[in-house]
Amino acid sequence: MRKNRKSRKNRAHIQPPNLLGGYKHVIMQTNSDVIMRIDILTLFPQVFESPLSCSILKRAQDEGLIEIVLTDIRDFATDNYRKVDDKPYGGGPGMVMMPGPVFDCAEHVRKLSPDKGRVILLTPQGQKFNQAKAIELSAEKRLILIAGKYEGFDERIRIGLDAEQISIGDYVLNGGELAAMVIIDAVVRLLPGALGDEDSAKDDSFSAGLLEYPQYTRPEVFRGMKVPEILLSGDHAKIAEWRKQQALERTKKWRPDLLKDNNKK
Ligand SMILES: C[S@@+](CC[C@H](N)C(=O)[O-])C[C@H]1O[C@@H](n2cnc3c(N)ncnc32)[C@H](O)[C@@H]1O
Repeated sequence: MRKNRKSRKNRAHIQPPNLLGGYKHVIMQTNSDVIMRIDILTLFPQVFESPLSCSILKRAQDEGLIEIVLTDIRDFATDNYRKVDDKPYGGGPGMVMMPGPVFDCAEHVRKLSPDKGRVILLTPQGQKFNQAKAIELSAEKRLILIAGKYEGFDERIRIGLDAEQISIGDYVLNGGELAAMVIIDAVVRLLPGALGDEDSAKDDSFSAGLLEYPQYTRPEVFRGMKVPEILLSGDHAKIAEWRKQQALERTKKWRPDLLKDNNKK
């Protein structure tokens, strides 16, 4: 036990490589031009380095569409061991995240920007994330995502922070970091200007309650498989009709539950 704590303490002092110019533990007010500010509260900020440093998420930051601020919950521990977890009352396996450091961290982060933000607790017990939720979240000015670890959060964190709970699926991850990353990735691609082509997200699977139609690119024939003639015809109206039909057919075949959900609406 003691050994574990010691090694955790050591790890916490490893300096992270340069992400967004170093972790922004202390950041002033949001640049008012950004479309969205995303705060991530985590015990493992280093998990975010790679996904935030490439492709669309990097470009969105470089172009000032989004601002992502990582805050290490462990910085809000109050003892020399930087302890953030403890044994569960009533016994049982594992460790539980203590309320003090998470509350202090969340209260500190909330004050960093005038926008109060929508606070989201990542937990397998939350409402299941989907495209509709991604669209809903993409309208926010600020998201505050709190990633758990170990056996999860002390219940008073959920109650006291009055946070929305989101799960990315019916399975249990080791921590909320990857869940937070999934949400960020899905939300940011919906922000105006994030994708090269504004229309890209419009036809994506789930956006209109259907799977997307089949896509083809060069070569015209690959290992005997030909691109459908209609796509080479140049007739945009017919292509649009064909794609609509294909989207419907594959949804019926592979995800009939989506059609049932649409009918319920
Ligand atoms: C090992 S899990 C704790 C699970 C908890 N004991 C339970 O059964 O509800 C540790 C952390 O990973 C994150 N996590 C795990 N699965 C998740 C999921 N499906 N969606 C979102 N977050 C998840 C949460 O932040 C959670 O606090």
